[in-house]
Amino acid sequence: MRTPLIAGNWKMNTDGNGAAELAGGIASRAGEVPDVELLVCPPAIYLTRVRNAIGDASVGLGAQNMSCQPSGAFTGEISAGMLTDIGAQYVILGHSERRHIFGESDENVNKKTHAALAAGLVPVVCVGELLEEREAGRTAEVISGQIKGSLAGITAEQISTVVIAYEPVWAIGTGKVATPEQAEEVHADLRKQLAECYNAEVAETVRILYGGSVKPDNANDLLGQPNIDGALIGGASLKVDDFLAIAAAGAAVAQA
Ligand code: 13P
Repeated sequence: MRTPLIAGNWKMNTDGNGAAELAGGIASRAGEVPDVELLVCPPAIYLTRVRNAIGDASVGLGAQNMSCQPSGAFTGEISAGMLTDIGAQYVILGHSERRHIFGESDENVNKKTHAALAAGLVPVVCVGELLEEREAGRTAEVISGQIKGSLAGITAEQISTVVIAYEPVWAIGTGKVATPEQAEEVHADLRKQLAECYNAEVAETVRILYGGSVKPDNANDLLGQPNIDGALIGGASLKVDDFLAIAAAGAAVAQA
């Protein structure tokens, strides 16, 4: 049984006080959803403040990106070791905004995935197709290529700690959510690919999150799919009530 992971990607939103307030609000209500794992990924500059606001509550802390390098002359970058040093446990890697706005390749994501695992961080590796790729019937091929490239050299032992997030680019921040059937089809394909690359047993342990316009009113149907093991939430993760309503939907599925 995979514990659902409900993750908030705050992107470049909030300010210091807002981040502390949002994290504190989520932390104070984490006890309402004991059957799911909660994770918040604030802007890097607020990680420490958010960690302090979380305190002892059962809410994970993650970054939105990191360098593949351990240290050195890389102006503006943050290493995996720096993230673990300030108490982060997770890092989102290869988010579509990193891939499409900042030109990150599968090779970059792969290097970062290795660096994150070496430092003891759980990587949340994102994949997803563009609208034109979906319309051209290329979704499976695109996702498969991204997974192969991003996870090259990751061992069977390592893969069971990796989290994968499927985020169709056309569904991010657009309000156009993938139907539960569209999402489940890709998630099932992803798990099949993991079984082929590693083995069926390991593939069953990997959590595959869906991301792209997840809201309280569509969370039940999405999280109810057999291969959807949680959500990576943008906009709705910035509101305590919405984030927890999505987590409650995950908890209901976990209890069923
Ligand atoms: P939205 O939930 O705002 O569509 O963002 C999804 C996302 O990119 C999460 O990483």
